[in-house]
Amino acid sequence: MLLLGLTSCMGGRDAISPAIPQDPEMEKKIEQILSHLTLTEKVGQMCQLTATVINNPENTALSQEKMDEVFGKYKVGSILNIPFGVGQPKEVWSRYIEDVQQNSLAKTGLPTVYGVDQIHGASYTVGATLFPQGINMAATFNRELARKCAEIGAYETRACGIPWTFSPVVDLGRDPRWPRMWENYGEDPYVSAQMGLMTVKGYQGDEPNHIDAYHVAACMKHYMGYGVPTSGKDRTPAAIPEAVLREKHFAPFKEAVRNGALTIMVNSASVNGLPVHANKELLTGWLKEGLNWDGMIVTDWNDINNLYEREHIATSKKDAVRLAINAGIDMAMTPFETQFCTDLVELVEEKKVPLSRIDDAVRRILHLKFRLGLFNQPTWDTALGYDRFACEEFAQTSLEAAIESEVLLKNEKQLLPLKKETRILLTGPNANSMRCLNGGWSYSWSGDRADEFAQPYHTIYEALRNTFGADQVMYEPGVTWRENGNWWEEKTPEIGKAVAAASRADVIVACIGENSYCETPGNLDDLHLSRNQVELIQSLSRTGKPIILILNEGRPRLVHEIEPLAEAVVDILLPSNYGGDALALLLSGQENFSGRLPFTYPRYANSLTTYDFKVSEQVSTMAGQYNYSADIDIQWPFGYGLSYTQFRYSNFQVDRKEFTAEDELTFTIDVENVGSCKGKEAVLLYSSDLVASSIPDAIRLRNFEKVELEPVQKTRVSMVVKASDLAFVGLDGKWRLEEGDFTMRCGTEQLNIHCFQGKVWEEADIL
Ligand code: BGC
Repeated sequence: MLLLGLTSCMGGRDAISPAIPQDPEMEKKIEQILSHLTLTEKVGQMCQLTATVINNPENTALSQEKMDEVFGKYKVGSILNIPFGVGQPKEVWSRYIEDVQQNSLAKTGLPTVYGVDQIHGASYTVGATLFPQGINMAATFNRELARKCAEIGAYETRACGIPWTFSPVVDLGRDPRWPRMWENYGEDPYVSAQMGLMTVKGYQGDEPNHIDAYHVAACMKHYMGYGVPTSGKDRTPAAIPEAVLREKHFAPFKEAVRNGALTIMVNSASVNGLPVHANKELLTGWLKEGLNWDGMIVTDWNDINNLYEREHIATSKKDAVRLAINAGIDMAMTPFETQFCTDLVELVEEKKVPLSRIDDAVRRILHLKFRLGLFNQPTWDTALGYDRFACEEFAQTSLEAAIESEVLLKNEKQLLPLKKETRILLTGPNANSMRCLNGGWSYSWSGDRADEFAQPYHTIYEALRNTFGADQVMYEPGVTWRENGNWWEEKTPEIGKAVAAASRADVIVACIGENSYCETPGNLDDLHLSRNQVELIQSLSRTGKPIILILNEGRPRLVHEIEPLAEAVVDILLPSNYGGDALALLLSGQENFSGRLPFTYPRYANSLTTYDFKVSEQVSTMAGQYNYSADIDIQWPFGYGLSYTQFRYSNFQVDRKEFTAEDELTFTIDVENVGSCKGKEAVLLYSSDLVASSIPDAIRLRNFEKVELEPVQKTRVSMVVKASDLAFVGLDGKWRLEEGDFTMRCGTEQLNIHCFQGKVWEEADIL
C-alpha cells in the first residue's frame, strides 16, 4: 500500500475536550481548599499508607497513637488494603473505615480516600458476591455482563464503606509465562478496551463527577506495558516498540480515561529501560496532557522506593521521590513509610520539585474526593441499608458470568453433554477446591483461605454430586496440593487409587491446572503442567475410559502431551464461587457453552505467540538448502470455543466497500442456529490489512457482539467499524490509515474492502 495521497492532520491537542467535564462549583471549592493548605498538608495528601500502619499489632484494632501521628503529624491523605490480613464482613469494614475517616477529618480537616483491591466483586469482603476473574469476563465476550458484574461489585464494595477499588486490570495478558495474566482481559487490545470500559462504567456509573453511594471510583492498572516482561517474570523490564505501546498497550487506558475513569495505577516495572514511575513522557505527556485528563495517578506498592532499591535509577530514596513526582505521580503508595512526606517537603524547599507540581497533584486528589462525594458523605451511610448485598439476583449474575466464561475446547464423538445416568470418576487436584476456582485476590491476597470463607458455595465435586446424584460421582484425586506449602507443591501422588476407581466409571472428569497464587510469587520456571498431573492423565488413559479434561488455571499451562488422550477439554479458567455449579450445568447439558478463548493457547514453550502476530512470523519453507520455516504452532487459537449447537454464518455485507479515512463502515451478517439446542454465540469481526508501510499484523479483532438463538432461529448482526479503527501506528508514532485493501472476516465468511483516501493522525486528532 503506497503512502501517496495521504493527508496529514496535526496538532489537535488543545482542541481535545476534557476527559471528565469540569464542574465550576467543584473547581471553586478545590481552589479554596488548596489556597489554605500548608506544604506539609499538601504533601500529606499525596501519601498513601497501608492499613497495618495505623493498627495496633497486639490486638489488631486501630491504634489512636498511630493515627495521631499519621493524620495529625503527617496529614496523610489516603489509606489502603485489608486491615487484618484477610477479608472481613461488611460491618467490620464499615466500622473500621468510619473510624479512620473520623480521624482523618478531625486531624487533617479533609476526608481520606480508602482504596482496596476488590478485584472480582467485593473479593475482600466475607459473604459478598464474587465474580469470575478478569480473564473469564473476557471469555464471555459479553459487554453488558461485564458491566453488570462490576455494578454489583461496586454496590457491595460501597456497602463496606469502601469508595475506591484498584480495578479493572487492563494490562494486556500477552505472555502466559507472566503470573498475572488471569487478572486481565486477555491478549487483545480491543477486548481489553471494551471490557475495561464496561467495568469502569459498572463501577462508577455514568457520571464521573458525581459518583453516588452505590458506586466506587475505578483504578485502571497497571499503566502500562506491565504484561509483557521480557523474562516472563513479574516486575521485570519490558521492551516494547513505541508504535506497539501506543497502538496496543495504551488502547484500554485511553478508552476508559476518555470515558471518565477517575484514577490510574502505574506499572511496577520498566518499559524500554525506564521505570514507568519515572517516565514523564508516559505519565504526564501521553496520559494527563495527551488525553486532557484531570484524574489521579497513584503508584503501585513501594514503587517510588523501588526506583532506588531495585531499579538503580536514583541515588537515594529521596532522589527517587524527586524523579517520580516530577514525572507526574500524584499519590505515593509508600506504603509503610512517612519518610516520603519529609523528603518531598524538603525537595520542594530545595526547589527540586516545583510547588506547581505539588498543587497539580493535590488538585487531582481533591477532584477524586469531591467526585466521590466524600466531602458531603465522608462515611458509610447506614440509612442506605444496602439490603441487596449478596442477594439471589446477584448470585444469579455471577453464575451466568461463570457459565458464559467456561470454554469448550474439544468434544470428540459428542461425549458431552453427559447423560444423567453417567457414572463419573472425578479426579485431579482441583476437583474439590474453592481456592482453585477462585484464584488470587479472594478473601486473602494469594487466595489461600478461600476454602474457609467460601464454604457456602460448591466445589466441582459438590456441584457434580448435586447435578448427577451423589451415587454417580466417585472422587479419587490422584494428585493433591500441599495445604501449607508453596502454591505449586503437591503431596505424594496416589495415582494408583484413581486408576483403580476408573474401572467403576463410565467417564473420567479430570480437574487439573494450577493452585491459587497472586502477583510475583506466581512466577514460573516451566509452563508445562506439573509432572504428577501429566502422569495422572497418562495412567488414566490406559484404562480406556474416556477422559474429560477440566483446565482450571490462571494462564494456559502446556497440555500438548495429554490433550490427545482426552475426548473432551474444557478450560474453566478462574470462574470463582459459582464456577463449579456452572460447570455441572454445562457438562450435563442444562446450559450451553458460549465462552471463547481471549488469548492464544500455546502448544510449545518455544512457540509463544499472540493471534495478532506479524505476518512474517509465519514463513513457509524456502527452496534450497535452508530450512527457513517459521511456524505458528499453537494448541487453540484466540477466539476459539465450541458449543453444543452449530451456527451458520451467511450473507456477510458492508454498506461501503470503498471508503475514506472519515467514513464509518457497517458490517452485517446473518447468523443462524442450525443445531438442535439453544445457544449463545460470540460473533467476532476481524480485519487484515493486506499491505502496509510497516509489517501488518496478521489479523485484528475490530468488533464483537453476543447473540442468543433458539434452534432454527436466525438473526442479522450489525457491527460498526470506523475507518480510523483500521489504522495502525507507524514507525513515526503517528496513526495511519493507508490506501489499499483489507480483508474482513466473520465466522466462515469474508469480504474485501478498499480504502481510497488515507490519512495520518496525531493521537490527539484520533481521540
Ligand atoms: C499490586 C497492585 C495492587 C497493590 C495494592 C500491588 O502489589 O501490584 O495490583 O493494587 O499491590 O494492593
